Amino acid sequence: MPTLITDPTTALHQTQLLALAKHYQGPFWAYDAQIIRQQVAKLRQFDVIRFAQKSCSNTHILRLMREEGVKVDSVSVGELERALQAGFSPESDDIVFTADLLDTEGLARVRELNVAVNTGSIDMLKQLAEVSPGHRVWLRINPGFGHGHSQKTNTGGENSKHGIWYEQLPDALAVIHSAGLQLEGLHMHIGSGVDYQHLQQVCDAMVEQVLSSGCDLRAISAGGGLSTPYTFDDQEIDPAHYFSLWDHARHRIAEHLGHAITLEIEPGRFLVAQSGVLVSQVRGTKWMGSRHFTLVDAGFSDLMRPAMYGSYHHISVMAADSSDTTSRPVQATLVAGPLCESGDVFTQLAGGEVEPRTLPLAYVGDYLVFHDTGAYGASMSSNYNSRPLIPEVLIDNGHLTEIRRRQTVAELLALESARTLTL
Ligand code: LLP
Repeated sequence: MPTLITDPTTALHQTQLLALAKHYQGPFWAYDAQIIRQQVAKLRQFDVIRFAQKSCSNTHILRLMREEGVKVDSVSVGELERALQAGFSPESDDIVFTADLLDTEGLARVRELNVAVNTGSIDMLKQLAEVSPGHRVWLRINPGFGHGHSQKTNTGGENSKHGIWYEQLPDALAVIHSAGLQLEGLHMHIGSGVDYQHLQQVCDAMVEQVLSSGCDLRAISAGGGLSTPYTFDDQEIDPAHYFSLWDHARHRIAEHLGHAITLEIEPGRFLVAQSGVLVSQVRGTKWMGSRHFTLVDAGFSDLMRPAMYGSYHHISVMAADSSDTTSRPVQATLVAGPLCESGDVFTQLAGGEVEPRTLPLAYVGDYLVFHDTGAYGASMSSNYNSRPLIPEVLIDNGHLTEIRRRQTVAELLALESARTLTL
């Protein structure tokens, strides 16, 4: 699984990551642009690759995507502004707005920009129709089932808040018709980490929905959810097979409707997960009875996935003096961060049980690299414990660009200037 940046034994990257670590004197993210391009290339068979920017929303990553011909999905006003800043055009089909609801600000902005909206409820359709008759819409359908790498990333079925329940598609179409909205297509995203069994099921559900509803459309979207390897045992989903199943569904729909259908895919993780690492420094080691702890200067305020889902991220040790750590004695250790919270442990299972990881013995001053953190890493960071957001660096063919500087504490405090409200 690991490629280039995910393998710190690669001399070039180890040298660069160490130089960056010494420069920043604190944790940081680094992304390898070449890996992102490689991942994009694997999905070129799809007519449209639409990047789910929630996975990694830095505008420089978005710009790289645009340069690769990738379009973008935005789920909030903030993500819309990011897409615009990266040069995506709102009037074309460059951007689709896929929020679960239209808040007041979002409704005003999509209307103003005339961005197509992927609607997840009949209320959204009605609210949009009221202010923007004729607006371009997609229908996000919940097909009645879902699948995810964790229950928290399963976005289908009765327990999911996402999408329009499949049996209500006729009602949604009636609103579109009566309000004069313009239907672009149907969209199904059943979760993150889709397996082949559910993939076939969702393709069939898409065909069934179009054929049984009698609607006409120009496009379908397969959503995202393509899995990527996090452990050495994981397999990357086969993009050619993924495409062939969706292509078959698309042909059945096109045949039924009598015209061509555009096939979109909307991945986040697949495009960026393997491109990114989080680099942290070992600031302490200690024994708690029989347990060994390695304490690093990054916490779940930076990388939330282990605490949130029990997600596994491969960890490697880089020596401060750049010597080889693979020949060091190993130690089963719990890797934890600086936050005042017991859950701030990177080596834990879903449910919160901690699990020691066997790593080359790391000393204070060495660096721990968390691999495959390009997706839902920086984009899920927070300011918990009043810790500023950490820098992001893009590495492209050996060329280093800081694409986000470290946030300052002063910037955090500046939000809190009190003022009297007279309503
Ligand atoms: N499209 C829609 C409508 C989505 O809601 C999502 C992800 C995607 C596409 C992209 O899914 P992907 O290809 O990245 O799996 N924070 C979790 C993942 C939450 C995903 C939310 N929606 C994690 O760290 O695994």
